[in-house]
Amino acid sequence: MPVNLKHRDFLKELDFTRHELQYLLDLSRDLKRAKYTGNERQRMAGKNVALIFEKASTRTRCAFEVGAFDQGAHVTYLGPSGSHIGHKESIADTAAVLAGFFDGIEFRGNAQTDVEELAEYSSVPVWNGLTDEWHPTQMLADFLTMLEHARGKVIQEVTYTYMGDARSNMGNSELVMGAIMGADVRICSPKELWPTKEVQDAAYARAEESGARIMLTEDPDEALPGSDFVMTDVWVSMGEPAEVWNDRINLLKPYQVNAAAMAKTGKDHARFLHCLPAFHDTNTVVGRDVAAKTGMDQGLEVTDEVFSSPANVAFAQAENRLHTIKAIMVATIGD
Ligand code: CP
Repeated sequence: MPVNLKHRDFLKELDFTRHELQYLLDLSRDLKRAKYTGNERQRMAGKNVALIFEKASTRTRCAFEVGAFDQGAHVTYLGPSGSHIGHKESIADTAAVLAGFFDGIEFRGNAQTDVEELAEYSSVPVWNGLTDEWHPTQMLADFLTMLEHARGKVIQEVTYTYMGDARSNMGNSELVMGAIMGADVRICSPKELWPTKEVQDAAYARAEESGARIMLTEDPDEALPGSDFVMTDVWVSMGEPAEVWNDRINLLKPYQVNAAAMAKTGKDHARFLHCLPAFHDTNTVVGRDVAAKTGMDQGLEVTDEVFSSPANVAFAQAENRLHTIKAIMVATIGD
């Protein structure tokens, strides 16, 4: 069955079928090959794209900008203090205004309801660059990276474990994306940091259709054996106050991705993923601050030993943000 994603929003994984997401992964692979071989055909010439970032970004912003430039489009960046959105002008009015200027709108902010409202009042596609609940553009990069390092396995044969704080955008998205795509998904986290029941129910419903295997457990010894990939994210998310650090670190210490955790997979070829940025050393202001307060100077959610090892494919994963975000734009507003 042909897939046509023209004029579609890209707000969360649950809005898409497995077939549609696989189409985006295939298109990402094709666009990556075309760029590498110098055969990229511009399908967004003359288009204009708005990038609204209410939070900081390195990868997502650069992926949208370079992806748009590669495809012949122009971008306008609206940073956290660069527009009236949400302050002097409602999201609905902003959507109506921007739709008159642009062919597509990227939005990174806090509430999922904000990006949903933007999409509701915009006549051009809206792409979710991260909210508190979902990080769907990241999922395409994660799955493309897993496919590239899966040693010939298709995604339905892949097993991955997400370790750490699983009740935020990354935990939600890794659970639901794996459920839609039919993977063996393991969420390993203290129970109070599991995705909500609503997210779990949605994942189990999609797993019924896809044949995905889902495990939620507090026990790394249950989750890690057999995992082809181990992934994690920072233990305190953007916007959370500094006071929560101590409690969160104590809660999550058993879920650190270290050499012992990687060994528990039982697979020499197990690979490590991280959406980045990662606190793996003291070469950042936050990393130094946390090390000084906690004594954890060898990394927080991942040790520097694992991060510096050949098992780490997070930089390939970061590059795949470009190819996958480009695919989303081409599929939804490309000629
Ligand atoms: N992973 C990710 O979203 O990176 P940025 O915050 O740098 O965009």
